[in-house]
Amino acid sequence: MKKLIIIGAGGFGREVLAWAKQSHEHGREWTIKGFLDDNPDAVAGKNVTAPVLGKPSEYQPTPEDVFVCAIGTPAAKQAVQESLAAKGGVFINIVHPTAVLGENVQLGAGVILCPQVVVTVNAVIGDGVALNLQTIVGHDAVIGKWCQISPHCDILGYAQLGDGVFMGSHAVVLPSVKIGANAILGAGAIASRDIPTGSTAVGIPAKPR
Ligand SMILES: CC(C)(COP(=O)(O)OP(=O)(O)OC[C@H]1O[C@@H](n2cnc3c(N)ncnc32)[C@H](O)[C@@H]1OP(=O)(O)O)[C@@H](O)C(=O)NCCC(=O)NCCS
Repeated sequence: MKKLIIIGAGGFGREVLAWAKQSHEHGREWTIKGFLDDNPDAVAGKNVTAPVLGKPSEYQPTPEDVFVCAIGTPAAKQAVQESLAAKGGVFINIVHPTAVLGENVQLGAGVILCPQVVVTVNAVIGDGVALNLQTIVGHDAVIGKWCQISPHCDILGYAQLGDGVFMGSHAVVLPSVKIGANAILGAGAIASRDIPTGSTAVGIPAKPR
C-alpha cells in the first residue's frame, strides 16, 4: 500500500485531503501519510488528522510515497513538483468519484479533479493541473501544465490554455480561444478573443489590464 503526501497544507490542501479520502483509490492503492508545507503549524486549529511532515524542499521521497501538489500558484506548483520528481517522487492523480470523464481524455501526472468536474471528450490535461469544483472542460480542449482552474469555470471546445494559466472563479474561455502561458483570467471574465502570454485579463469581454 502506497502513502499519499499532499504538498501544501493551506485551504486548497485541506480540500484535496478531503477529496482524496473520498476517492476510490483511498484504502485500496494508498492511504494518507500527511502534508509537506514550509509552515509546520499550517493545519493548527483546523481539526485535521494528517500531520505536516516537513518542508517540500527538504523532503526525501521514499519508495512507498506518492505525491500530489495542492499549491494554488502555478509557478510555485511547478517548482515543487519538478524538484520532488527530480528526487524520484512519483506524482499521482486525485480524481473525485463525482468527477465525470468522457472518452479519449489524456491526464498528465499530478492532476487534481475536484467534485463535479466534467471533462468531455478528446481533451488533454497537462501535468500538475487542478480543476476545482464544478469546472467544465469541453471537447478537444487543451490545458497546459500547472494550470490552476478555480471553481465553476468553463473551458469550451477547442480552447487552448498555455502552461501556468490561472483562471479565477466563474471565468469562461469561449470555443477555440487561446490563453497564453502564465496568463491570469480574473474571476467572472469571459475570454472571447485570445489573451496574450503573461497578461492579467478581466471583464466581459476579457481585456488585458
Ligand atoms: C484578477 C485578479 C487576479 C486581480 O488581482 P489584483 O491584481 O490583486 O487586483 P486588485 O484587487 O488590486 O484590483 C485591481 C482593480 O481590478 C478590479 N478587478 C479585480 N478583479 C477583477 C475581476 N475579476 N473582474 C473585474 N475587475 C476586477 C478591481 O475592482 C480593481 O479596480 P479599481 O482599480 O477600479 O478599484 C483578482 O482580482 C481575481 O479575479 N482573482 C481570482 C480569485 C479567485 O477566483 N480565486 C479562486 C480561489 S479558489
